[in-house]
Amino acid sequence: MKFFIDTANLQDIQEAQEMGVLDGVTTNPSLMAKEGITGKDNILKHYLNICNIVDGDVSAEVVSTDYDGMVREGEELAALHPQIVVKLPMIGDGIKACKYFSLKGIKTNVTLVFSPGQALLAAKAGATYVSPFLGRLDDISTDGMHLIEEIREIYDNYEYKTQILSASIRHTMHIVNCAKAGSDVMTGPLSAIKGLLKHPLTDIGLNQFIEDAKRMKL
Ligand code: E4P
Repeated sequence: MKFFIDTANLQDIQEAQEMGVLDGVTTNPSLMAKEGITGKDNILKHYLNICNIVDGDVSAEVVSTDYDGMVREGEELAALHPQIVVKLPMIGDGIKACKYFSLKGIKTNVTLVFSPGQALLAAKAGATYVSPFLGRLDDISTDGMHLIEEIREIYDNYEYKTQILSASIRHTMHIVNCAKAGSDVMTGPLSAIKGLLKHPLTDIGLNQFIEDAKRMKL
């Protein structure tokens, strides 16, 4: 399973990259705003900075909600850097724009997906990635993991090439369960990725080894 980091924070991206486990980055307008990135030039420059840190795909989201606007914005984003993936909302015009980009060989990520039917449409439109938001479903007492399993089943039935990019990951068990469900990618915060490191028996065992190593008189 590929690991993407879901942030626009350059330090977090750098740290995950240095861990050696990072395969890409996802951003959205809320994450960009959180970093205080304003103005078109700064936003485009920020995407380039992200591309210079990681080797993999970097999702940059359009903010238009009409087909022409999404195509215009997406083309500008895609021309920025070969690692840019055009992130489109799961609405009618977004699906239409997804088909347009897919025919042009430009990578896409259909976002804000909350049902298997929406994921089916994204695959039909040739999306490179589909982003089901599992944390936000959990937030409203709905089983987010079940959605990932349903999409996996549908995509496997027809051998759709669209990759399931499990998004809105909140904690380590989301990551582990996504891997068990056969998600192609997960995108989460640095805290969830680093959380995978933790086990008290690892710490206890290491402390014991360090103590015993002293008796080896290296
Ligand atoms: C996905 O691409 C989104 O950026 C993200 O995962 C949303 O996560 P949130 O529900 O924690 O905001």
